[in-house]
Amino acid sequence: MSQILDTLTRIEEESEKEIAAAATLSEIQAGRVRVLGKKGSLTRLLIAMKDLSSEERPVVGKAVNALKQRIQELIKQRTVELERQEQADRLKQERLDVTLPGRRTVRGRLHPITRIFHRVEGIFEGLGFHIAEGPEVEEDYYNFEALNIPPDHPARDMQDTFYITDDILLRTHTSPVQIRTMKSQDPPVRIIAPGKVYRCDADISHTPMFHQVEGLMVDRGITFGDLKGILEIFLHEMFGASTGIRFRPSFFPFTEPSAEVDIACLICGGGGCRVCKDSGWLEIMGAGMVDPAVFRMVGYDPEAVSGFAFGMGIERIAMLVYRIDDIRLFFENELRFLTQF
Ligand code: PHE
Repeated sequence: MSQILDTLTRIEEESEKEIAAAATLSEIQAGRVRVLGKKGSLTRLLIAMKDLSSEERPVVGKAVNALKQRIQELIKQRTVELERQEQADRLKQERLDVTLPGRRTVRGRLHPITRIFHRVEGIFEGLGFHIAEGPEVEEDYYNFEALNIPPDHPARDMQDTFYITDDILLRTHTSPVQIRTMKSQDPPVRIIAPGKVYRCDADISHTPMFHQVEGLMVDRGITFGDLKGILEIFLHEMFGASTGIRFRPSFFPFTEPSAEVDIACLICGGGGCRVCKDSGWLEIMGAGMVDPAVFRMVGYDPEAVSGFAFGMGIERIAMLVYRIDDIRLFFENELRFLTQF
């Protein structure tokens, strides 16, 4: 019996040391198996007890159980310690410095062309115009024929057209939206049609794709005076109330009479400079009274209604508003340029 008690003491001392020295949870686990496992040293002692006398057995049994409990307790304490330590290590490793400045996010902004579109649309919406849209890939019929430009008409040379097939093309202006609108609704009509248009042309003041806004107003008794009044309100809103405006006779196959609208040069105020080529005026849009031939084409009665139409280039307006002298800047999308607006 004393031999067993000696072994118990040895197991106790060793276990205490081992548990205290365990540096990881798996080391603790291995220690537990060595002592308390099926083939562990303490378990073997319990088995050896069968050779003891019936007086000795309870004494040794008590001692073994007490030690078993003590070791279990030690393991539990050490496990808690190690778990705490592991968590502390992990927290330290995963530590975030919340005071570090964040990565800067770049703030986007509207393209200058979009901004001008919004301004133009806002002004005309205030005058009771609705926004209409049409396809950029258009039929010859809507882009030319129905606008009183038959196949052999010289006016086709005014616009270098991108053809897709003989009848399908990229629209060269927003005027086909006039036709589509009038074919789909009865008068009165009061629309503007903003959008992209395409012409085979490229230099300092032309790009193969650019933007236009078309306007169309049709009702009983609309006169050239209404056209002048609406455009005057628009141009004064856009360029300032004191901006001089003039109408010059011109020609478009789909309007009669037709005019080109100029504003007094924004740079020199009318005195003459490089931008207005010393004329004092800047051409800003085409306009006119809808030609009766166009009304007949869409099934409107030219005896009953009349109307006006106008069309302007958005890049041209943006260049004047923002004082930009090369149209290509709008399409290069150089951030240093775009962030100025
Ligand atoms: N569509 C013409 C152009 O692109 C502009 C215009 C529109 C003229 C409406 C008169 C009436 O040049």
